[in-house]
Amino acid sequence: MDIDAVNALPYEDFVDVFGNVVEKCPIVAAAVWSTRPFASLNALEAAVSEFIDALPESGKEGILRCHPDLAGRDLQRGTLTRESRGEQAQAGLDALEPAEMSRMARLNGEYKERFGFPFVICARMCDKANILQQLSERCRNERAAERARGVEEVKKIGRLRLQGLVLTGSPDKL
Ligand code: GUN
Repeated sequence: MDIDAVNALPYEDFVDVFGNVVEKCPIVAAAVWSTRPFASLNALEAAVSEFIDALPESGKEGILRCHPDLAGRDLQRGTLTRESRGEQAQAGLDALEPAEMSRMARLNGEYKERFGFPFVICARMCDKANILQQLSERCRNERAAERARGVEEVKKIGRLRLQGLVLTGSPDKL
């Protein structure tokens, strides 16, 4: 899809196509549609980023809370979004050893207990060992720094999903 085709989408179609660029937050696509036309894919990515940056801290935390735990309940129940399923599989999180699974569950729990939102990382840029290491390290951060870090990871995830959709027609092909 070229950028002219993106710019020509009515908002219903735009939200259908881009509604999960930010996990379970179609409001981002619905809001960003108003800022068309986009000069390029980069400009569309920047519009998503700017919308997120303009949110109050509670809104940023809300976005983080829309993300499922990595290797968590939704993965086990088969209720992940298509995008998240692909990303978690790519990082090897759908095939954890029992010991890795329990370590991930324990650290995810500690992280959420400490910060009040889930650990978010751009899983497609990591493997499972790296994810476990970062999860344990990031548990020691201050809350504000960790919120900002999580938001930066949301943007990375969104950038890859957007590129996949615009360049290949699928959120997980790039
Ligand atoms: N990284 C990429 N996708 C996801 C996701 O769905 N949840 C979390 N927590 N991190 C991710």
